[in-house]
Amino acid sequence: MSSPKSLLIRQARLILPNGELMIGDVLTQGRQIVEVASKIAPTTPTQEIDAQGLTLLPGVIDPQVHFREPGLEYKEDLFTASCACAKGGVTSFLEMPNTRPLTITQQALDDKLERASNKCLVNYGFFIGATAENLPDLLLAKPTPGIKIFMGSMHGDLLLDEEEALEAIFAQGKRLIAVHAEDQQRIKQRRQEFAGIDNPAVHSQIQDNQAALLATQLALKLSKKYQRRLHILHMSTAEEAELLRQDKPSWVTAEVTPQHLLLNTSAYEKIGTFAQMNPPLRSLHDNEILWQALKDGVIDFIATDHAPHTLEEKAQTYPNTPSGMPGVETSLPLMLTEAMAGRCTVAQVANWMSKAVAVAYGIPNKGEISPGYDADLVLVNLNTYRPVKREELLSKCGWSPFEGWNLTGWPVTTIVGGEIVYDKGQVNTQIRGQALTFS
Ligand code: DOR
Repeated sequence: MSSPKSLLIRQARLILPNGELMIGDVLTQGRQIVEVASKIAPTTPTQEIDAQGLTLLPGVIDPQVHFREPGLEYKEDLFTASCACAKGGVTSFLEMPNTRPLTITQQALDDKLERASNKCLVNYGFFIGATAENLPDLLLAKPTPGIKIFMGSMHGDLLLDEEEALEAIFAQGKRLIAVHAEDQQRIKQRRQEFAGIDNPAVHSQIQDNQAALLATQLALKLSKKYQRRLHILHMSTAEEAELLRQDKPSWVTAEVTPQHLLLNTSAYEKIGTFAQMNPPLRSLHDNEILWQALKDGVIDFIATDHAPHTLEEKAQTYPNTPSGMPGVETSLPLMLTEAMAGRCTVAQVANWMSKAVAVAYGIPNKGEISPGYDADLVLVNLNTYRPVKREELLSKCGWSPFEGWNLTGWPVTTIVGGEIVYDKGQVNTQIRGQALTFS
């Protein structure tokens, strides 16, 4: 029998589990890291990567993406999305249930897992979506990182905005509940108040901070009543961050997107409807409070909420334009650029984009550069800056809200399960990721 494939990454600047940096070698065998040391002598036939001058991080785990398959493949599909992941250093993702059909049964979950095993270049997990009727599926479906509840901002079966229906879900079972927290009643009422305005900036006024706060308060109340594991998706306001700062039970986690940290309502003037997302962009003040909450551990980690729509769809007039923006190709360089500007450290970015996600979702053996951990890794270049260019993007939607931003920390090489899936501009489309497991 031939020995498993082995990679030797030489003389990288590594982020160790304790956050310290060292220059050293990493040896992988098969899907795992087997050794980390200042110098490793190759033994078996080994492929070597000269990583001098580059920084090695645990591969990014993006815990909130919308990859559109099945049903909306004209916007994105699991193949194009996972190529974009490979290029962005994202080695695992957790995908949301608002596809067509909705992921609200074991059958729909199995269908996504099957599709992913055929087409995904990186590792994958899929949320199960809550409706008013599918409690048995929510209790039993597996493997899944958890139950996704849209408390607002969604039409059709996935919208759950009645406290009674929400409580029925919080009251039964133990698995993680992840909420899109916006108050639908308030959104509806404000849509009427602001009807007829086609300036997309009004989106942030309609779905305002109060709409987000009301829903987060309700989710927290129910979570506390049943001590139910709760995750607050894409937290966007200073008010929610302050609420959690005052009172965050140990079983509650929260995430923030790079766009809610780095963009605000001034973006509508520059990129119009391309800045439209749910929950909407907020003020500079919100950006700052969210950054502080992230640094203080009030917010636990980062997700992109990659939600691609076509250029044609985004070119319509508000409010006929869909909400959402892509993110997996730019999230790591965006955050590393902030680190190099002194806003946080590279070790914090590695924690927020990998280790903390693995811990929160109970994903075993991911998020660290240590022997026994999975060889999901990304080598980045922190020495040069390059702008985000539309023509270089692999996401099917073909645009980014960050076009023109001059970033550092672009992935040079991405490794999934010990295999090189992206190297210096080339994606190896033969590589396949694996289904994630959750404890
Ligand atoms: O802006 C958004 N778009 N936010 C969401 O939560 C859903 C997403 C989508 O699926 O387009």
